[in-house]
Amino acid sequence: MGEQEYHVPVLLDESIRALNIIENGIYIDATLGGGGHCQHILDTLGPNGRVLAFDQDEAAGNNVPEDDRLTFIPHNFRHIERFTRFYGVSGVDGILADLGVSSHQFDVPERGFSYRFPEMTLDMRMDTRTGKTAADLLNQLEPGPLQQLLGEYGEVRNARTVAAAIVQFRRQRPFKLVGDLLEVLHPLIRGERHRYLAQVFQALRIAVNEEMTALEEMLEGALNILNPGGMLVILTYHSLEDRLVKRFMRSGKISGEPEKDFYGNMHRPFEVLTKNPVLPGMEEQERNSRAHSAKMRVARKKEQE
Ligand SMILES: C[S@@+](CC[C@H](N)C(=O)[O-])C[C@H]1O[C@@H](n2cnc3c(N)ncnc32)[C@H](O)[C@@H]1O
Repeated sequence: MGEQEYHVPVLLDESIRALNIIENGIYIDATLGGGGHCQHILDTLGPNGRVLAFDQDEAAGNNVPEDDRLTFIPHNFRHIERFTRFYGVSGVDGILADLGVSSHQFDVPERGFSYRFPEMTLDMRMDTRTGKTAADLLNQLEPGPLQQLLGEYGEVRNARTVAAAIVQFRRQRPFKLVGDLLEVLHPLIRGERHRYLAQVFQALRIAVNEEMTALEEMLEGALNILNPGGMLVILTYHSLEDRLVKRFMRSGKISGEPEKDFYGNMHRPFEVLTKNPVLPGMEEQERNSRAHSAKMRVARKKEQE
């Protein structure tokens, strides 16, 4: 990947094919990022088609393809239903979401996503207009929730010890820089350093951006705005996300059993088209390190039963 590249799209051909684009349909790219997927959707779409593209990171606004058919919405995709209706669209033919962070976010030191830049502010917000930074969370959360987020989102083995060390540190001075967290973690690293730090930083990032609840809300909104026959294509990079997407596509619900009708028949609003997730091939994985953990799942909204 060249230094200037914002983000190399993952599973590009596979995901666009999965959208099964109809000539003058309406599509949503929930995660514009560098605009790679979005450009491909536009290239496949007919002259009267339309695309709504979301990204909560203002920096992504620099990558909006110039195209009259495209509307960029610089907001969190958790509001997908509200914004789609606001723009006068009552139903869409496909939704693509390519979750997580872009290479750009990860590689720009000032964003504070990476443990490679100790001098930077420990921020990690994708949307820098709002919310709490990673430093805020480390300064404010009780040890219990700290331990939980490290264990759950990062599978950090010594989460309890780390949570205690974080609380100990902030008694002396508040967390501010990436280096402050590295100082706490240094004596506590278990296993391979890179992997361990990546897990802790990923856990914090997921918490800072409330990524699991945003995904839940987006999926529920997506079901409401997809036309019958509309496609839902989701790329995940974390096992919790993948599990959530898999369950939702199977049942149409975030948790619990599918709804039953009067006769006790399960109501499953989607036809699942990927029994197993689609993974990038070896060639793509070698070419693009971001592709390593990617999984794609695809479902079609059923015609009304
Ligand atoms: C993996 S990148 C997408 C890359 C894109 N498909 C491309 O081809 O360049 C994920 C993008 O989604 C955005 N994002 C993540 N969660 C979001 C959310 N809840 N709402 C809106 N945008 C989000 C991030 O800011 C980031 O730019």
